[in-house]
Amino acid sequence: MHPLFHLGDVTAHRIDDAEAERLQPLLERCEDFFRLCYGRPARADEARQLPLERPPGVTPEQGHLLALVDPTGAWVGLFEGLQDFPTRGEAYLGLLLLEPGTRGRGLGAGLLAGYEDWLRASGQQVLRVGVSEPNPAALRFWTREGFQAETWVGPLTQGELSYRVLRMRKTLTAPAATP
Ligand SMILES: CC(C)(COP(=O)(O)OP(=O)(O)OC[C@H]1O[C@@H](n2cnc3c(N)ncnc32)[C@H](O)[C@@H]1OP(=O)(O)O)[C@@H](O)C(=O)NCCC(=O)NCCS
Repeated sequence: MHPLFHLGDVTAHRIDDAEAERLQPLLERCEDFFRLCYGRPARADEARQLPLERPPGVTPEQGHLLALVDPTGAWVGLFEGLQDFPTRGEAYLGLLLLEPGTRGRGLGAGLLAGYEDWLRASGQQVLRVGVSEPNPAALRFWTREGFQAETWVGPLTQGELSYRVLRMRKTLTAPAATP
């Protein structure tokens, strides 16, 4: 499999929706995230549901699932998102999730840069993300990465919880030209 982008020896690979359930062990290792944002651990079919929970009207081609793979072949994170949503040229990142042992070392920022390059090369000019109110560390992360608050949505029911989600937006400007 040819990686879409990488940071060091962690590579990002696009996977088919039919392979989504291979992400289940990763989701189970991220119990902290599911408890924080859903009030419960990952459901038994959480990974299989990922591509099934896209908004109505979105075509399968608009969705993407990327597995982040370490040198041992372990799946240590994921990107789940949409392109051309809600309008052409605008992408939406539903979830960036790294397994606990890999967090806090700049991997998220580095891989996000590669993801943004990949989106830009696919014709996307804007990236949005929804930040859950109970996840202040995520709000700090997206703010550091140049996302700006757009609007509060909800309260929405998320698993066992109900809270607002802050929609944030970043313009995917072209990287500075090298002289
Ligand atoms: C959000 C996330 C993608 C950021 O990636 P990252 O590589 O961890 O980013 P950073 O290295 O910039 O560290 C992020 C924060 O984690 C803190 N951190 C340090 N060690 C950590 C660890 N072992 N585990 C978790 N967080 C840690 C960092 O200090 C930083 O906190 P700060 O904002 O208070 O400064 C990643 O932490 C993650 O997957 N979190 C769980 C899922 C999530 O919340 N996703 C976003 C929702 S859409």
